[in-house]
Amino acid sequence: MQPTKRAPGWWHSRPVILAVLGALAVAVLAGCGAVDTPQTTLFPRSDNNQVINDLYAPLTWLAIVIFVLVQGLLLYSVFRFRARRGDDSIPPQIHGNTRLEIAWTLAPSIVVVIMLLLTYQAMAKIEADPPPDALHVRVVGHQWWWEVHYPDLDVVTANEIHIPIDRPVYFELESDDVIHSFWVPRLMGKRDLMPGSTNTIWFTPQEEGLFAGHCAEYCGTAHAQMRFHVVVESEIAFDNWVEKQRQPAEEMTGDAALGAELFVSRACVTCHTIRGTDAIGTIGPDITHVGSRVYIAGGILENSPENVTLWLSDPQGVKPGNEMILPLPLSSEDIRLLTEYVRALK
Ligand code: CUA
Repeated sequence: MQPTKRAPGWWHSRPVILAVLGALAVAVLAGCGAVDTPQTTLFPRSDNNQVINDLYAPLTWLAIVIFVLVQGLLLYSVFRFRARRGDDSIPPQIHGNTRLEIAWTLAPSIVVVIMLLLTYQAMAKIEADPPPDALHVRVVGHQWWWEVHYPDLDVVTANEIHIPIDRPVYFELESDDVIHSFWVPRLMGKRDLMPGSTNTIWFTPQEEGLFAGHCAEYCGTAHAQMRFHVVVESEIAFDNWVEKQRQPAEEMTGDAALGAELFVSRACVTCHTIRGTDAIGTIGPDITHVGSRVYIAGGILENSPENVTLWLSDPQGVKPGNEMILPLPLSSEDIRLLTEYVRALK
């Protein structure tokens, strides 16, 4: 019996189909527009990322070849052997073809072995011991910020990691609470920070600049705002930075001095350390030199007077769930003085 023929819906018209395909193509290709964005992993700026990229390229090409081959065969079969009007016959039914069975077992196995060998090669390079002259950095993940130590240089900071160009840097990664993941897309692949154990990774940065970093493992409410930055700089600039970071906070004058008094008289001191003052809390980041950082609030706000004021006025609004809960209502004058102080902590 012939099925009754229905009038085609509006969605079957050629202009509609073309418009939908066009919109899809635009949406997909939009991702190819900007090539060198902060999040891209495709333009390596370190040896670690170069190794990953060298693996990514052949695997992608392999996948493209297989995709085209499989889809080509599928489409060929669909069109070549489709049911034809007036032909009710059933195609010949076959079962078992030893040669074909062997071929389609062997071919994927060979592909998998190729992928395995390439991956092992890359892993051997990434997991190799760090060179002995590597700079040693210890990173502790917290909900939702990053504690940063340079054990050999006597430097403690947070959310901003300075490293010199062309020198290997060796990270020890730990967590204070839940599992986080340390990731600088343009410099290195992800590595988890596990409570109760230490993971390590090393790489050699090959270009100066400010690189965005993220927590890449869901770790609670503000996971998406658990960011940091890596500053890759010349050796001289790095040495100057280290020298500065080792110092206690400078003596304050004017409004900044009033802000400093306010800071130690309020609950701020229970959570933050500012070396050289009475503030020795360890729940939040060490902010001895927070004024010198490019970003504040765990890497999410640029360090400007407006943003420091915004953060001090409404930390829960900026980063819901974080542990900075204002103990007392701060007056706008308090916030102005504290902003002056925080900005002066260079
Ligand atoms: Cu820490 Cu996600």
